Amino acid sequence: MANKKIIGLYPGSFDPVTNGHLDIAERAFKICDELHVAVVANPSKNSLFSIAERVELLKKTTKHLPKVVISSFNGLLVNYAKEIKANIIFRGLRAVSDFEFEFQMALINRSLHKDIEVVFLVPNEKFIFLSSSSIKEVARLGGDVSGFVPHEVQKALQKFK
Ligand code: PNS
Repeated sequence: MANKKIIGLYPGSFDPVTNGHLDIAERAFKICDELHVAVVANPSKNSLFSIAERVELLKKTTKHLPKVVISSFNGLLVNYAKEIKANIIFRGLRAVSDFEFEFQMALINRSLHKDIEVVFLVPNEKFIFLSSSSIKEVARLGGDVSGFVPHEVQKALQKFK
């Protein structure tokens, strides 16, 4: 069988991107020939940053990963995966508490798109406790988030203090 190009898709809300997300993106990048990091644009969550701002922050913070494509998508993840010809969806798994939701989502996505594989990556243990929502709360209440997010995100969070 001819070598198949591995096109990875790492989707998420990224509101905002954290050091944990970047750790996963870097791991996914090593596995793929081409990696797309995509912000979900569905209006299902109360978000702090606009889609354009989240895309911009991802672009700025993944500059060290050549040829990573940053985008946003509307609608079903599997349809976007088909559109960009991705054959792997990457998701980060931090703890057992993530597992049930991720497992369900992986099975739904695979039943909607037979040719996609879902690969779970585990971040460096120093990022295991990070989530965008807790970072937003710490920043809103004036706490120091410098160890949790890249500098660009830290700056962007300052306007919400
Ligand atoms: O960072 P998040 O919020 O955990 O990411 C969740 C995401 C974007 C991967 C998920 O909500 C998603 O895939 N949304 C697109 C809509 C969709 O395809 N839903 C069906 C999968 S259950």
